[in-house]
Amino acid sequence: MKAILVPEFLTDPSTLTPTTTPAPKPKPDEYLIRVTHCSPQHADILHAQGKHQNTHPKKGHVHPPFILGYDFAGVVEQTPSGDNSGELSKGERVFGASIGAFAEYVAIKPHMLRRIPDGLSSETACAASGQAVSFAAAAYVANVRAGDVVLVSGASGGLGSACCSAVKALGARVIALVGDKGKAEAMRRDMDVDEALVMEGEEWVDRVREITDGRGVDVVLDNTGMVTEATRCVAYGGTIVILGFAARKGEMEEVKMNRLLLKSITLIGYRFGEDGRRYPAKLEEIWDRYLRLLTHGQLKPFIYGQYNGLGDVGRALKDLAERKVYGRIVVSLDTTDASAEKAKL
Ligand SMILES: NC(=O)c1ccc[n+]([C@@H]2O[C@H](COP(=O)([O-])OP(=O)(O)OC[C@H]3O[C@@H](n4cnc5c(N)ncnc54)[C@H](OP(=O)(O)O)[C@@H]3O)[C@@H](O)[C@H]2O)c1
Repeated sequence: MKAILVPEFLTDPSTLTPTTTPAPKPKPDEYLIRVTHCSPQHADILHAQGKHQNTHPKKGHVHPPFILGYDFAGVVEQTPSGDNSGELSKGERVFGASIGAFAEYVAIKPHMLRRIPDGLSSETACAASGQAVSFAAAAYVANVRAGDVVLVSGASGGLGSACCSAVKALGARVIALVGDKGKAEAMRRDMDVDEALVMEGEEWVDRVREITDGRGVDVVLDNTGMVTEATRCVAYGGTIVILGFAARKGEMEEVKMNRLLLKSITLIGYRFGEDGRRYPAKLEEIWDRYLRLLTHGQLKPFIYGQYNGLGDVGRALKDLAERKVYGRIVVSLDTTDASAEKAKL
């Protein structure tokens, strides 16, 4: 099969091109999936460079040579054997996450796969697959209610844009914080955000206060690592949810705790994957609601550009590294599937 193989860690992953490599042989308890779409993200760059926690020489599980990629959608090619035959049938459309997704085939355990509901395209499922955390953070962790005002940092990113969509679906107003004017424009045009502010200097903090008549926002969903700034824009009794540290370059911020006390702020960290492992029933409820909202168009993914074939993965990684991307990239691997899929909708 063709795949994006990382023979050894490298500085510039955008130079990677597809090579021919043996297709994975699924274990008896694994599915074999023919990949139709994959979604490159920043973590893939870190994996290829050997800078991700998963590539740690002792504690990590990803070591060269390995096939790059994580989020994907595809079609069941082969089901697990014997007693393990599983719930999915050959030919069913699925999405999931597994190292090795930038390939024509991936072998994967059942618990890492989900069926794509009828009415939801494989492209959308692929774009949204890693983003259920956005809906969970807004609806379950921050308890966002209709009429609330929510500030989202890193709003143009994969998770940030999904957060904006989740906040809108819950009937709240969203203020999107982005890196430049072009992205602010794209957010207003394509994501229906109420306000899009460029995170430059100090002016945006004043603007948040103006927009909320001096009160501050009810909730901050922080994807970039800006709790200090968040304490300045949140209302008395407001909530800040820490989701990621995209802008911190590995250096964590120190927060003056008195700021939390003075405004009775609730500061919560949220780790979606671990939470799901500990509370599987809640995870299923979240996925059920999230997929229903996606299928009915109440949540919409923000898909950037056009990328076709594994040969475009390098370009996707370059665009990500240069911070050109807003929303999620989806690379289509098989156009015949796209038409088969349309026929199903
Ligand atoms: N808590 C969880 O369970 C969970 C789950 C998934 C992901 N995450 C984390 O959430 C964060 C966001 O993930 P993502 O997939 O949305 O990432 P992403 O697509 O790369 O988006 C991050 C956004 O942050 C902004 N940003 C600001 N300064 C940046 C900098 N110096 N370098 C890169 N980006 C910068 C960028 O927007 P502008 O260019 O507009 O500034 C970018 O669009 C990551 O830290 C990720 O690890 C957490």
